[in-house]
Amino acid sequence: MDWPHKDLLSVDQLTSPEILELFQLAQNFEEINSRLVKKTPTLKGKSVLLLFAEPSTRTKTSFDIAAKRLSADTFSLATKGSSLEKGEDLKDTGLTLQAMQPDAIVIRHSQSGAADFLARQLHCSIINAGDGWHAHPTQALLDGFTLYKLWEGFRDRTLLLVGDIAHSRVARSDIELFTKLGVSVRLCAPRTLLPRHVADWPVSVYTDLDEACRGVDAIQCLRLQLERQQSGLLPSLREYATRFGLRKKHMELTRPGAKVLHPGPMNRGIEIDSHLADDTDSLILDQVSSGIAIRMTLLYLFLTSTSQRRE
Ligand code: CP
Repeated sequence: MDWPHKDLLSVDQLTSPEILELFQLAQNFEEINSRLVKKTPTLKGKSVLLLFAEPSTRTKTSFDIAAKRLSADTFSLATKGSSLEKGEDLKDTGLTLQAMQPDAIVIRHSQSGAADFLARQLHCSIINAGDGWHAHPTQALLDGFTLYKLWEGFRDRTLLLVGDIAHSRVARSDIELFTKLGVSVRLCAPRTLLPRHVADWPVSVYTDLDEACRGVDAIQCLRLQLERQQSGLLPSLREYATRFGLRKKHMELTRPGAKVLHPGPMNRGIEIDSHLADDTDSLILDQVSSGIAIRMTLLYLFLTSTSQRRE
């Protein structure tokens, strides 16, 4: 597969044929993950730096595992314990890390645009692992891959995103990815958790969860991003859970065979009923497994592409 990209900053930069080819390739990496010995020498001699200036369990660990399964070396840096804590700015941190000659830097940062900023400063590949409210492209790709394996195609499918849309980078990236693939996307949230310009987005908007669930093929619950919210957006968590928490009864309104997703970390009993999260209708742990295959695919593409060999 010819991979013309130096960086992955948002889903916007990918074409739908590229996304579908990426999913096909990810199936090969998924096969490696099912073997007894889950390691290939594909990226031997390459190094990947994980720069996580915000907390993460799934994204950071799965990039680390993905790189190691391909025999790349990984190095981790977090705000705590690094010179970011002493006030070193992102440009100096990036230039310092580049001087150590990594082949890629995977970055998570609270500022929207942080990955784009580094990509313009540095010649190694930059992979956005979540920047502020802006984008979380690898999450959207793993969400897409999870449903790609289940559905026979994306056309005539409807995905509902429910929860804190306003502050969610996952929502923004999922909308970009699924609409590109021809999926109808619905949003459901209290008005205070809908983005100001949502009327301009290519989605249908609901504020009633029962209505939103009718006839959908999958529902992705989104975490309340309390760390990014101003106070006063919700009357109470209990009221939010009553009106917008997904429960088994909602699954009776969907198309037969519909599935539930959550990018994690989840607040059980608030965004999603705890039993439903563990139910057979739930793909939440499949999303985590898909994340490793997708990140192996991305590291393979970025670290062996002609755009990188030209550097
Ligand atoms: N979905 C996701 O980004 O999870 P982490 O914050 O644990 O990486």
